[in-house]
Amino acid sequence: MRILVTGGAGFIGSHAALRLLDEGHDVIVVDNLFRGHQGAIQSLAACGGPRFRFAQGSICDGEFLSDVFARERPDAVMHFAALAYVGESVERPVDYYRTNVVGGITLLRAMRGANVRRIVFSSTCATYGEPNPGTTGIAESTAQAPVNPYGETKLCFERLLRAACRSTEAPPLAAVALRYFNVVGCDAKGRLGEDHRPETHLVPIALEVALGKRSHVALFGTDWPTADGTCVRDYVHVEDLIEAHLLALGALGTGEFRSGKFLAWNVGTGRGHSVREVLDACRRVTGHPIPTKEAPRRAGDPPVLFADARAIERDLGFHPKKPALETAIADLWRWMQAHPRGYA
Ligand code: UFG
Repeated sequence: MRILVTGGAGFIGSHAALRLLDEGHDVIVVDNLFRGHQGAIQSLAACGGPRFRFAQGSICDGEFLSDVFARERPDAVMHFAALAYVGESVERPVDYYRTNVVGGITLLRAMRGANVRRIVFSSTCATYGEPNPGTTGIAESTAQAPVNPYGETKLCFERLLRAACRSTEAPPLAAVALRYFNVVGCDAKGRLGEDHRPETHLVPIALEVALGKRSHVALFGTDWPTADGTCVRDYVHVEDLIEAHLLALGALGTGEFRSGKFLAWNVGTGRGHSVREVLDACRRVTGHPIPTKEAPRRAGDPPVLFADARAIERDLGFHPKKPALETAIADLWRWMQAHPRGYA
């Protein structure tokens, strides 16, 4: 197949593009390189040869997108391009709505113009807001009540996809939203890594301490209502996350997942780890003491988020192959040691 991957120079999008190339598909990456990396594009080009194409531009630019669709005639879209920092979204809601919602609408219009009717959308557990996960985790049926503009924009686009799937337009759209929990690790072969500017995520920050680039990890709150007082998250290896995208793409528009239907699944492991547990795993992998300093709670952090991951297993047969946190940390640690300045 020919798959158009928006945001394919970013962390998750580049891993999706790489896996699609590994599976023998043609991949067209659309990315404006605002947060994505030229270095990721170079790796993809080296892996994909002529089956890989890169179009630099914005998903908010309808003319650019229409040209790419007309030229490349993709069979389906994987949509990752977005602004994705919770804190920044509170500061700059207009930019978040423009990129994540207006950009999404522009993409859907270009898809309609080119008669491309399948899309897998990168959504987030942030659409649930601050739910009570109970003992079984957050299920897809949990009310979606985001508490920041980032989560709002992702939910907004999910709702648009749902409406577009139900519309009477022919042929109808087939759309899947995958609601990610915390994504960690990188390509085990070291062809791609994780490099956010600025870096705000726990695992890369801890590994930067182990590399000597930072002195310590700030513990954002040690008085949360959890067993050890730190927040609990569900960490899924990026390679497993991408496997879920391939399963979703394969199912889209077929059988019970026929066109005209919007579907949403959580992607997580169903298991929570506290911040202290994550740091202990980083210490085991790196052999570095990774000092910490207690710091105030970070605004907007829900205390406990972990997935009820049963639906995607039942419906698509998805089961994480790398559920151990150490595996993801070790994969990223190898890449960071080889690329201490990231994609620089
Ligand atoms: N943390 C620290 N110190 C740090 C960085 C993080 O204690 O220096 C803590 C956070 O407070 C949180 C946990 O580590 O409790 C994980 O934080 P991350 O920033 O790595 O990840 P988040 O859980 O905040 O973010 C993830 C996704 C977002 C998504 C969000 C939904 O990365 O895209 O979940 O709440 F929006």
